[in-house]
Amino acid sequence: MIKRLILFLFAVVILFGCVKKGEDTIKIGIAGPMTGDQAKMGMDFKNGVTLAVEEWNNKGGVLGKKLELVVGDDQRDPKQAVSIANKFVTQGAKGIIGHFNSSCSIPASDVYNRAGIPMITPASTNPQLTEKGYHGVFRVCGRDDQQGKVAADFITSKLTLKKIAVIHDKTTYGQGLADEFKKFLGDKAEVVYYGGIVQGDKDFKTVLTSIKEKKPELIFFGGIYPEGGLLVKQSREIGLNVPFMSGDGVIDPKFIEIAGADAAEGTYLTFSPDPKNIPSAKTFIEQYNKKFGELGPYSIYAYDAANIMLKAIEAAKSTEGRAIMDQLHALEFTGALGNIKFDAKGDVTVAPYVVWITKGGSFVEYWKP
Ligand code: ALA
Repeated sequence: MIKRLILFLFAVVILFGCVKKGEDTIKIGIAGPMTGDQAKMGMDFKNGVTLAVEEWNNKGGVLGKKLELVVGDDQRDPKQAVSIANKFVTQGAKGIIGHFNSSCSIPASDVYNRAGIPMITPASTNPQLTEKGYHGVFRVCGRDDQQGKVAADFITSKLTLKKIAVIHDKTTYGQGLADEFKKFLGDKAEVVYYGGIVQGDKDFKTVLTSIKEKKPELIFFGGIYPEGGLLVKQSREIGLNVPFMSGDGVIDPKFIEIAGADAAEGTYLTFSPDPKNIPSAKTFIEQYNKKFGELGPYSIYAYDAANIMLKAIEAAKSTEGRAIMDQLHALEFTGALGNIKFDAKGDVTVAPYVVWITKGGSFVEYWKP
């Protein structure tokens, strides 16, 4: 009997503790691939958001409450992303920063929309995400119809190449980007090969051999760095030495590590301009370097996305979803990347894609459209 009473009291204390904690804090969900072959991207997100949340908490939090970060690992899997989204809803998250992959952000956005929780993705670039007409879905990055056009313009007007092979990883992002790129190439260049590979595969020599037979002058890849790195490495191994081009999913030091610096040399990538040249990014970069080391491509986007969400909560004077969404649509935000304003769809009004090149084992800005 006494044992039961003690157990009951213990349960009450735990329950009370949990409820009280929930009431005292405002939960912000951060979602991305925290484990697996894209974990670097998830960790970049988490680090950027952690820095923002710590800064707000050091100033007393928001609306008089401390912020609590809840982390969701979607493992770049759409099903897992939906399950993470449902978990965030149950946990009472008031705003979501994530996901990384468009194939995760899009199905997860259905869940957040139903629950009335605003989401800002730092990195999901597929146009469909903001074409659904959801009031609470935003991105601080650009879109693949923008970066695909810059890539096609670069190849046709700067490199003046005529025979292109296009490969994608069959994901919403990878195939979507490949298709946008192909659309913007139009009849200015011939697509001599078009096909998909499977994400997670390790041996692409068969497909690369077929591509080699078509004698392309460049290979364009829609996908992420684990496969991008292997494609470059293996194309050099079979003597396919034409330049390689890809988008934001590949611009990470991990790509050079997987491909090898020599094989990766001269790879072209579309991404936004170097934050190291943006004066407003200086303090963030210093703080990030001190705490986490080298900046990842999307660390600063995650940091700005978190600050924007928190400023919107503050301006709304409420954690009610609709009120936060209205502020996200109405305000112009000044962040580490400069000024950010969302249009009616939830896209940024300015997305200045440029072309980068891999040189001596790192990435440098190369061409502006
Ligand atoms: N931009 C990439 C995507 O949308 C990361 O999946």
